[in-house]
Amino acid sequence: MNLPFPNQLIEALKNATHIAVLTGAGISAESGVPTFREAQTGLWAQYDPQELATPQAFRRNPKLVWEWYAWRRELVAKAEPNPGHLALVALESKVPQFTLITQNVDGLHERAGSQAIIELHGNIMRTKCFENGRLVNSWPATNDVPPHCPHCGGMLRPDVVWFGESLPYEALETAVASTQTCDIFFSIGTSALVQPAASLPIKAIQAGAITVEINPQPTPLTTHVDYALTGSAGSVLPALVAAAFPPA
Ligand code: OAD
Repeated sequence: MNLPFPNQLIEALKNATHIAVLTGAGISAESGVPTFREAQTGLWAQYDPQELATPQAFRRNPKLVWEWYAWRRELVAKAEPNPGHLALVALESKVPQFTLITQNVDGLHERAGSQAIIELHGNIMRTKCFENGRLVNSWPATNDVPPHCPHCGGMLRPDVVWFGESLPYEALETAVASTQTCDIFFSIGTSALVQPAASLPIKAIQAGAITVEINPQPTPLTTHVDYALTGSAGSVLPALVAAAFPPA
């Protein structure tokens, strides 16, 4: 891990008026949430996530897809935000404007206390109707798997973006807008492969923002950013925030 951090980066953080952050599964790795591409364990080892997280898979076998998400929901519910999530909460309190854009569906940024969260891929803890897209907070307890919408009787599904589905328009628009006005753009814990999220750091570079990547591994973005900090979010982020904003 690069310590001490470059002075220019520390000064930029101190003087920033708008910081934007894009996070991926890597920031939740230290909370014990397997990244999307990590091998599935136990019963689910035989399935490829990309084969389950699609509308076609749900139509073909709604029970299997619902139970896969129920298993992931249970995993996530047991996980706790880690020092990386908490460092972003601290950073948000230090700057006039802060935009947190996440590809994660685990809800850990919210549980850590982050305020301005843009969930590009939805949230696994929310449920919606497969037919009409309405969010549903409760439904009659029956043995149906998946359960049915209390409004229209359609099947219920997790409120996450599946492969082949478009991202929530408002969320993406707000995320793109932040790349045009931020002073500093962080890309943290993402392989920077999946569009359109992966285009956000590039847009920030084109808009003249200072760009920082935090990842133990190189990604296609690494050679394009101003500062590539090699290491885990749970250790680099707290150290960086403490270096820029030393405790009084
Ligand atoms: P990936 O699993 O593709 O990448 C995780 C990244 O986190 C990798 O680059 C790792 O090197 C890095 N990483 C691992 N541990 C880390 C740590 N402790 N600290 C920092 N980084 C760490 O996950 P995403 O990039 O989030 O989309 O994947 C993006 C999207 O692909 C997901 O949101 C999902 C998937 O298709 C949908 O579900 C629509």
